Amino acid sequence: MDQNLLYITSVENIPYEGYSFNVDDRKIALFKIADKIYAIEDRCTHLHVQLTMGFREKNIIGCPLHGALFDIATGKVLQGPAVHDLETFRVVVENGEVYFDRGQITKHKRTKDSD
Ligand code: FES
Repeated sequence: MDQNLLYITSVENIPYEGYSFNVDDRKIALFKIADKIYAIEDRCTHLHVQLTMGFREKNIIGCPLHGALFDIATGKVLQGPAVHDLETFRVVVENGEVYFDRGQITKHKRTKDSD
């Protein structure tokens, strides 16, 4: 198996509200839609609030702070105030276990105002 693949959890452990984990300095969330697993940045692109603390309705995740809506499958903003899409990531599922390819992580540029 690829050395960049990190074991995250079993598919059956992913709750409807999403499963959050950290890779390096990034927060990522796994969601199950039908039988497919999606991974998105667990960080609103407006003011960086954790999205798994928000609310989910089918394929949409809502930010708990100002209510921006994002499509879990594509990362697209569906409703502001956020204007930037979420980053999406590839996951590998094998025998009901979820692995994340850490090779796709790029570090956020940190500035005094953003973190
Ligand atoms: S912090 Fe998410 S919409 Fe403002």
